Amino acid sequence: MNDKEQTLSIIKPDAVERNLQDEIKQEFIGKGFEIIKEKKIHISKEEAEKFYKVHESKPFYNDLCAYLSSGPIVVMNLQRKNAVIENRKLMGATNPKDAEDGTLRKKYGISIDKNSVHGSDSVENAKIELDFFFND
Ligand code: CMP
Repeated sequence: MNDKEQTLSIIKPDAVERNLQDEIKQEFIGKGFEIIKEKKIHISKEEAEKFYKVHESKPFYNDLCAYLSSGPIVVMNLQRKNAVIENRKLMGATNPKDAEDGTLRKKYGISIDKNSVHGSDSVENAKIELDFFFND
């Protein structure tokens, strides 16, 4: 039985701008993730609004979408056992100030907006988010 799971990871503009993508990819590989698809893209504000639609009612929605579309990002399909939860553990808390030592957001995050990485929060959302970026 193949018990591997897939999740979407985004290396956000603040990390790509600092050229951290290779270092962050190595962190995933070191934790047993396979990067089965990846691409560097620059999305429009409209695409970011679609991607973050679940946050539409939040006060930070507009800034969040402006930010994700502000520069190039790297989107990846990551695979391993329990990929969703393991990716969330590796990323750490949303706000880098609250993230534990050794997590990506602690190491690389600058602020709650510029928190370097995004990861799907459930298996169901992982499927939706992977389909959003890798629908070919
Ligand atoms: P991410 O995991 O990409 O999902 C939504 C993003 O909204 C989150 O990371 C943060 O970067 C951003 N964000 C900005 N303000 C907040 C907030 N107050 N609470 C949660 N997320 C926020």
